[in-house]
Amino acid sequence: MTAQTDIEIIDRINQLRRERNAVILVHNYQLGEVQDIADFAGDSLELSRKAASTNADVIVFCGVHFMAETAKILSPEKTVLIPDLHAGCPMADMIDAARLREFKAQHPGLPVVAYVNTSAEVKAESDICVTSANALKVVESLDADEIIFVPDKSLGSYVASKTSKKVILYPGYCPTHHRILAQDVLRAKMEHPNAVVLAHPECTTDVVQLADVVASTSQMIRWVAEHDAEEIILCTERGIIHKLEKDNPGKRFYNPNSLNICPNMKKITLEKVLWSLEDMEHEVTVPEDIITRAKKAIDGMLSIG
Ligand code: 13P
Ligand code: SF4
Repeated sequence: MTAQTDIEIIDRINQLRRERNAVILVHNYQLGEVQDIADFAGDSLELSRKAASTNADVIVFCGVHFMAETAKILSPEKTVLIPDLHAGCPMADMIDAARLREFKAQHPGLPVVAYVNTSAEVKAESDICVTSANALKVVESLDADEIIFVPDKSLGSYVASKTSKKVILYPGYCPTHHRILAQDVLRAKMEHPNAVVLAHPECTTDVVQLADVVASTSQMIRWVAEHDAEEIILCTERGIIHKLEKDNPGKRFYNPNSLNICPNMKKITLEKVLWSLEDMEHEVTVPEDIITRAKKAIDGMLSIG
């Protein structure tokens, strides 16, 4: 149930969103109450597409910093706000432009495929971006037998297992998804023998191998809507369960353990969304030359569909 103070905060957010001509974009891992005020909620790919196509003057991005940066790159004329400037992504922080240049020098001439979970500077040093929803399709589309994939070794390994191309992996990973262990999934399967296992490709290879379906967050949401499975073990960040339970009354969702929480995604609260709209903070900016170069890599991905 929504508390009285939350109702007052939401009323004020709604008033300001109209006055500022703002759109609130929300990632599927956000707190439930933040998901509930979204103009649009989705996975990284869908949120990029929305950011590119919105008519709003202001985008309030409820997600982590690289997502807000991507919105700014795709809509540089708009004001992009992130309600908490400290909502970063430890995986994205595992590589920067200098480290990528070094990595490229070790593997000269190969195209660089960058997971969208990277800073704008890293995207600017890359040939094309991918998200978890389209990584294999994008890699398959490239006219090269060998590629560099940064920074997620897990998503990169998953792609490598599905393509004939040689994939050079960078050793980055998502600490939240890596806290889900194969033994947790095996235990959950014993406890719920009829359950289907859905895993995000940021999970370890051991976990991915135990999954019935490997998918991005929105692909998981669609899969559950389209299939009869009544019990589902979710190997991803637990924020996704909010929407799944709302959309699918009667179906049961299980976390493999209690550690699948991304603390950065949870930094954004209703109060911070309100303050963000009140004070027009925190504005996300990207230098123009970086926008031009990073946009090429993102547009390349978006054109593949
Ligand atoms: P998707 O919603 O694109 O699957 O991304 C997962 C994620 O970890 C974002 O940080
Ligand atoms: Fe980064 Fe992982 Fe959190 Fe996504 S879930 S924002 S990849 S740390």
